[in-house]
Amino acid sequence: MQKPIIIAHRGASGYLPEHTIEAYQLAIDLGADFIEPDMVFTKDGHLIARHDHYLSTTTDVSDHKEFADRKTTKTGHDGEDWFSEDFTLAEIKTLRAKQAMPQRSKQADGKFKIPTIAEVFALTRANGVSAKREVALGVYPETKLPGYFKSIGLDYQPALVAELEKANWWQEQFPLFVQSFEAQILIELKNSNPELALIMLIEKKEDLLLEQYAKFADGIGPFKALLADNKGKSTGVIEQAHALGMQVHPWTFRSDQLPDVFASPQAEYDFFFDLGVDGVFTDFCNDAKAAKLARIARTIKEL
Ligand code: G3P
Ligand code: CA
Repeated sequence: MQKPIIIAHRGASGYLPEHTIEAYQLAIDLGADFIEPDMVFTKDGHLIARHDHYLSTTTDVSDHKEFADRKTTKTGHDGEDWFSEDFTLAEIKTLRAKQAMPQRSKQADGKFKIPTIAEVFALTRANGVSAKREVALGVYPETKLPGYFKSIGLDYQPALVAELEKANWWQEQFPLFVQSFEAQILIELKNSNPELALIMLIEKKEDLLLEQYAKFADGIGPFKALLADNKGKSTGVIEQAHALGMQVHPWTFRSDQLPDVFASPQAEYDFFFDLGVDGVFTDFCNDAKAAKLARIARTIKEL
């Protein structure tokens, strides 16, 4: 797969409600190299694709009178909400996804179901080499809140490994990165299955502990602002990660929330591609693909 890889952040989430099969399929159609499901658990131990375990912002749970009494408070979450770990998968399947960002279209609200990770892996496999793609589609699942879920008896390590077994990953080896903001789950996965490619997510400057992460991770997924200073110079993070043998996949590129310093999405992609990133998490994978192709075209002209 030619770098930088284009990772469809929550699917084609700039256009359709995030973390739905329809949003992942659109991302595939728009040229994504990887689709990115965030994962949380249901009460009966299934992994479903959601960014948050609270459900009110991205589903119609508040319209379901039968679930009114599930609204509750949880340690670590402000205010009341409905939480994935209080619902069975069968109950989750009665919900429909909705757009969370106010500036984005709500036309598809109420139409799409919440997928399981098994369904996301099935979609990935259906877009493998056998689907006549030159390069097999990849999948880039994130373990959300692994410490919290383990504390209530829901453990990502066995659950994810079991899902990968069911998806025949050890035979098919479709492109896969597993990511987390919490080092412990990545260490557990590296210990149980050293063949998995793992990405340590980093949000804050003080968490740039790259030498530590290189012991178990194959790369880092940093907040993009950690990679350059306000003069547009590299902070050295990419160079250090590369020297340690790790890839760098920053997040999140959003054409509808472009930083002021860039005149266009392409200018932002060009800046980070020039900086040396190995991939980008983007809500608008068609814009990333266009920037990548334009760059390739420029290289050909210079030959
Ligand atoms: O996983 C990379 C990036 O998605 C991290 O941010 O909060 O969108 O999962 P988030
Ligand atoms: Ca994510």
